Amino acid sequence: MAVQRTFSIIKPDATNRNLTGAINAKFEAAGLRIVAQKRIHLTKAQAGEFYAVHKERPFYDELCEFMSSAPIVAQVLEGEDAIAKNREVMGATNPAEAADGTIRKEFALSIGENSVHGSDAAETAAVEIAYFFSGLELVG
Ligand code: CMP
Repeated sequence: MAVQRTFSIIKPDATNRNLTGAINAKFEAAGLRIVAQKRIHLTKAQAGEFYAVHKERPFYDELCEFMSSAPIVAQVLEGEDAIAKNREVMGATNPAEAADGTIRKEFALSIGENSVHGSDAAETAAVEIAYFFSGLELVG
């Protein structure tokens, strides 16, 4: 597999509990390199634009409220097969279904407050990275 980049967010439930370092340690232990990172506080409108694909879902408003409730850490992770590897390290969306040792199993509070977001495919990774970072900010 080739070296890939994927987009990651450490969500408000995790930044509130000071878990940025603990989560980054999981990424790095899995061989993912953090090649860009910034802590920002999204407006509800910005969160809504990022999650526009979920607009019709019943949890959309709750999701946008939550993602704009406190700072997030937006990141680009690089490594061999980075998209799949990141999804493995994150664990299932619902922490009740996440495997032992995964970020969501250890840290997530609920399906909504699930500590991290990660891109699900190469096309979404490219769009999500471009939403938060310029090319100059990606330092491999
Ligand atoms: P994420 O990977 O960021 O992508 C969309 C998010 O919507 C997902 O993680 C969850 O945090 C959230 N989500 C998915 N299903 C539900 C749900 N049933 N209720 C609340 N939030 C949800």
